Amino acid sequence: MMQFTLQACFTLSCDVTSLTRDIDRFVTTTNETILRKGPEKLAVIEQHSLEKETLRLSITSTGTLRPHNALLQIKNAFSKEFGKTHRVGVRSITIETYTISFDLQRKPLKDVSIPFADVKMQETQATMVLSDVSEEFLRRNYIDRMINRVREKVENQYYEGKAEFWKLIWESEERKPVWAKDPTEEMEKQGWLKQGPTKGKWFYYPQATAILKAMERIAIKEVLQPLGFQEVIESHVKPFDVWLKTGHMEGMPYEFYYVCEPRTRDAKDWEHFIDLTKITKEVDVGELQKNLSPPAAGLCYAQCPMIYWSFKGKTIAEASLPVLVYDKTAISSRYESGGRHGIERVDEFHRIEPVYIGTREQLLKLREQMLERYKHVFNDVFELDWRMAWVTPWYMQQAGKICDEGTQDTGTIDFEAYMPYRGSRKDSEWLEFQNLSILGDKYITAFNIKAQKSDLWSGCSGIGLQRWTTAFLAQKGLDPKHWPDAFQKYLEKLPEGIEFL
Ligand code: SER
Ligand code: ZN
Repeated sequence: MMQFTLQACFTLSCDVTSLTRDIDRFVTTTNETILRKGPEKLAVIEQHSLEKETLRLSITSTGTLRPHNALLQIKNAFSKEFGKTHRVGVRSITIETYTISFDLQRKPLKDVSIPFADVKMQETQATMVLSDVSEEFLRRNYIDRMINRVREKVENQYYEGKAEFWKLIWESEERKPVWAKDPTEEMEKQGWLKQGPTKGKWFYYPQATAILKAMERIAIKEVLQPLGFQEVIESHVKPFDVWLKTGHMEGMPYEFYYVCEPRTRDAKDWEHFIDLTKITKEVDVGELQKNLSPPAAGLCYAQCPMIYWSFKGKTIAEASLPVLVYDKTAISSRYESGGRHGIERVDEFHRIEPVYIGTREQLLKLREQMLERYKHVFNDVFELDWRMAWVTPWYMQQAGKICDEGTQDTGTIDFEAYMPYRGSRKDSEWLEFQNLSILGDKYITAFNIKAQKSDLWSGCSGIGLQRWTTAFLAQKGLDPKHWPDAFQKYLEKLPEGIEFL
């Protein structure tokens, strides 16, 4: 059940007191014509009153025609009728109050608030009271999105604190780890790594770099090239409209690193800041801010959004399907706050992200092939103790949504490795070191990507080099002697590195 009540006010171009009767008739006719479909009342002007150039209307509806949409129609009808005969037009519309009541699936566990309205809850009914709303506001689809947002917030209350969806697909045999130390700490001790200079970032000296680069070669040679993936290079800076399309903007605005452009690149405008810097040898951030534009973009968070953007509005030839591409250039930045740990949970990481676009059949087959190649790497090259599980699709997580089931056609598979330093194989938390998803037509639709004939689906897989590295080292240790032969083929010898005194 939905109930809408709208009090609105037309400001007319002149005093229409003399037209009172015509306006009464207009209201009656409107109720019988544009606000009615056969026997059904779509919306009703319940009351109206006239005072000089102000026409007040009270409109109700149970939802078929939303009063704010009715209002715009009434405005057009009014202008048409009185414009022609009496040269009276509607100067502006003001909404005095707009009350919307609607049912919820479940009783809210606590109050909910949203912008633009006061929300009250009673049992399974929510009432939103809006005031001071512009015509522009009504034209945009805000009202329906506000209803959806209230419903979503109530539903989310039921998921808070619940365990994430997780369903085991496959697990490797148990393998005896070489050691049980935290690889990051040990690498720091050996001078392979240095933390910083800013939060959650690392400097990788030659030894650590050699391992990350070996991981990259393995992913390319053992997984991507055999399956026919082609490399692309994307921009590192993502404008907000790309994230609006993927849902990231509403999902994790608190995890982005934002990018500001200079307001001007005219050195003259920067003179004061430059002088200050030369004299104080410090950065006056307040002064700097005056010369910056507000952010309109952020650093890469995941690589797939911009790959989809590159296909936006394009029609892909059947011969190019499935499209198989990967980016390994853009570095991902995520503001992790409390969760940082070692090089496995960082604010800045290096990842290869393959993206695939094709028919449902093509992608389901590709998933099998990718799983086979990944298994080969983790079983034969890394000799890892690992497993795979269905989890909440990443786009749901990254769009701030919650769900309890993945399906087998679309959804995200997480790859997890046992981390001996964290405790027992059974009870400790394993590390998610990779994922693989098929996402249906979600991004295909969002970016309006087409094929000549086929209906398209898409998906992506995240190969995090730091994650591969820590999963491997946590089980195999830092001594290359203990590394599997197949891995040693990719990294015969560690570089000498630099000795510090
Ligand atoms: N886009 C996916 C993610 O963010 C894969 O990289 O996890
Ligand atoms: Zn992705």
